[in-house]
This record gives sequence, structure tokens and C-alpha cells, in this order.
Amino acid sequence: MKRTKIKALLARTAPLENVLIKGWVRTRRDTKEFSFIEVNDGSCLASIQVIVDAGTPGAEFLPRISTGAAVAVTGEMVPSPGKGQAFEIRSRGLELVGTSQEAYPLQKKRHSDEFLRTIAHLRPRTNKYGAIMRIRSKTSHLIHRFFEEEGFFLIHTPIITGSDCEGAGEMFRITTVSGSTPASDDFFGQETNLTVSGQLSAEMMALALGDVYTFGPTFRAENSNTSRHAAEFWMLEPEMAFCDLTGNMDIAEALIKYVVQGVLESCAEDIALFANFVDKTLMKTLTSLRDDAYIRLSYADAVEILLKAKKPFDYPVSFGIDLQSEHERYLAEEHFKKPVFLYNYPKGIKPFYMRMNDDGETVAAMDLLVPRIGELIGGSQREEREDKLQERMQALNLPEADYWWYMDSRRFGSVPHSGFGLGFERLLMLLTGISNIRDVIAFPRTPGSIDF
Ligand code: 4AD
Ligand code: MG
Repeated sequence: MKRTKIKALLARTAPLENVLIKGWVRTRRDTKEFSFIEVNDGSCLASIQVIVDAGTPGAEFLPRISTGAAVAVTGEMVPSPGKGQAFEIRSRGLELVGTSQEAYPLQKKRHSDEFLRTIAHLRPRTNKYGAIMRIRSKTSHLIHRFFEEEGFFLIHTPIITGSDCEGAGEMFRITTVSGSTPASDDFFGQETNLTVSGQLSAEMMALALGDVYTFGPTFRAENSNTSRHAAEFWMLEPEMAFCDLTGNMDIAEALIKYVVQGVLESCAEDIALFANFVDKTLMKTLTSLRDDAYIRLSYADAVEILLKAKKPFDYPVSFGIDLQSEHERYLAEEHFKKPVFLYNYPKGIKPFYMRMNDDGETVAAMDLLVPRIGELIGGSQREEREDKLQERMQALNLPEADYWWYMDSRRFGSVPHSGFGLGFERLLMLLTGISNIRDVIAFPRTPGSIDF
């Protein structure tokens, strides 16, 4: 007999004569005649109650069926007289698949996030982390579905690269030789890094296929031990040919609305857990994300608003500064109380590839700022004009020879094009109300922390 997932069982409205379930024991409770075992198989938040009596084949395992043990149960699914569950399983056979030793660290009580991070290998068995992993999976599928429906092609960009897309120098070096060996003798014959962004490759593909996106692991050696930075995170990067900055913001906004709607539809039970226990304002945030038009505001206008703000900031504001998370959050969380696209940033705080505006001072950049998180998206219209791009690269001391292939794209059929990068973990924080990036990725990599 094939096992049935608990999610499928609980979606039924009618009892079922013969079922087989397999999962892990959350609790076992014994009365004189019966044992009640709560089994969860990870397919959904809910567990199902299994009732075993002394005559059931396999009942001899009962003393060893402790929290964390793996079991297989055959039986009949019948309406449950108990509260909070429509059905339960009257067991006709019980099998102990894997015992759980006494040291099993997950108890019925609520554990702190900090403690659960120390057992990241077991925390997906808790309600909260099971829920976040299911939402993570669904969100990922929704992103792919959105771009498929919009006619984008999924591309896979390299993880090992020789270039620094963002020019911020926050790269992990990869090498097969010892420190004193010259880079020319290294595996690739030059310095190589883990990618900080697939953008430059994505641009080449967009200039052939039209609309593309890449969605994969991204690496940054930022030594900022914050709740919003990970050394390894997932970035979604769409790139659109024949698209300007407005079109870029339009796609970003449509994507987020689509994903929020999809998650509300298909992860209602898991989302409710977060709305009840993690962030009481979550439903309000999500409906606003789905229904409200996002603000679009120039960087210069944002600076004006920040200068007039009554709020004291740790970092003083003036035109030209790289906005800090406190500024970004003030705009999205307190001033507008909804997502805000900021555009036209000063050139000095943005990478070389962004399109120069006519003022010669600002570039066609856009960041999407959202409540609680700050920056969720960073993107731009790209500089498609060869001479302007050369100017920027010279000003920033970037050797043109290293970017010969990138420059080629501006020589052979260059077109206006745009794209952005969305931090997938930050999106998940937004969708769940979880406040630390370490809790939306299975095995977080942060400074000084590489267990699991
Ligand atoms: O703003 P960023 O640096 O943009 C780029 O890398 C562009 N090349 C993307 C593009 O246009 N194709 O990064 C994009 C997003 C940020 O807005 C943030 O959400 C996320 O990536 N991000 C991080 N997320 C988690 N941990 C980190 N250390 C992150 N650094 C950036
Ligand atoms: Mg950015």
C-alpha cells in the first residue's frame, strides 16, 4: 500500500477505510485502554491523531514510540470526536520505523529561535520551521510561474566568476593553490570568486532572448552581522530587453503582488501560524502589499522627506549619502506605510553599469523599500551606450580589457534594457513576519558560523 500524505488526508471530507501514513511522533499519551499518538509527516502544519489499542498488531512497540520517533501506521480514518480535528486514525497496524533516543531536544513547549538555530538540523520538525520551509518552496514555485506566464526564459548563470559585478569587493575568493602561489598559476589562471550577482551574464542572455531571469545562490563576504544579511543567499534576477526604469518597476511590483496573492491562497494555514504567533500585523502587511499601489519617489525627494522627519537618525542625512536601513525603514514603515520605489540615485553610490541620467549626476537606479525589512530589491536601467559606459568605467578605474565581452554587447545591437535583484530570504521575511534572515533559510551562513 502506498503511503498517503497527511495533507491529502485532511483535505478529504469523507472517511477512508484503508490508509497508510508515515511520519514522526510529536507526542504520545496513554490511557488505560488506548494510546494516542500525534503524527506529523511534514506535508502540512497539522498532525493527525492515531489511536492504538492493546490488541493492535505492533502495539508492543508502544513503550518505545517516543517524541521524535518515526512510525508507519495503517488503519481507518474516521471522524474524530476530539476538538480541533475532523478526522483521526484508528490503527490496525503499527510499525516503529526509527526509534528516537531520549536526548531528542525538541519538546512540546515553545523553544527560542536562538536555541533552534543551534539545532538547525532538527528545527524543520517544529511547526514554525516546517511552515517556513513549505512557504519557501511555494514562493519559489510562484516566482517561476510568474515569469513563465510573462514569457521569460529561465537561465542559469555561473557561480564561479572572474568579475565583480557590484564593484563592492565583497567577494569570496576560490582557489586550489596556497596563498603564496601567483593567481596566474591558479586553476583558472586568474583570481576567481563566488558570484555576487548573475546580472552581467543575464544581460548577455536578455540581449538575445528578450526577457530572462536567473534565480540562484549568491555570495557576499560582507562582515555585517545583521538580521538581514547572509553570506550565502538566493537572489532572483530578471533582465528585460527594450525596457526602461518604469517598466522595470512595473514588473517588480506585479511580481510581488502575484507572489503575495499566491502565498495567501496556497499557504493559508502556514501563514496563519505566523500571523498568530510571530507578527500580529502580518495580514495587514500582506493585503497592503497585494492591493496598494507602491509609492514611486526620486532619491532627491526622499532626502527632502528624511531631512524634515522628526525622527532622530543615527546617520545624518544629506544628498549623496548611501541610505542606511534606518532611513529606508522610516520611509516605508513610518512615512508611507507601504512599499516605496526610490529611483534616480546619485552616481557615486551605485555600480558602474547603471544608466547615466541627463543631469550627469544621478543614475537610473531603483530600490524597492518595504516595511520591517528596508531594501528588498535593487535594480536599474543599464547603461547601453558604449561611450557613456567607457566613461564610467574609466572614472571607477575598471580595466576595460577585463570586461571586453560586456563591452561587446554595447557594440553589437545594444538596446535599452533593465533588471533587478530581489533577495529571496528578505522576501520570505516579508511574507512571514520573521525578523531574522537566519530563520528563513535552512542552514544559514553568516560570519563565524558554518555548522551544518
Ligand atoms: O542591490 P543588490 O546588491 O543588486 C545587485 O546585485 C544587482 N546586480 C541586481 C540586479 O540588478 N540584477 O542586491 C539585490 C538584492 C538586495 O536588494 C537584497 O534584497 C539582496 O539582494 N541582498 C542580500 N540578501 C541577503 N543577504 C545579503 N548579504 C544580501 N545582499 C543583497
Ligand atoms: Mg542594493
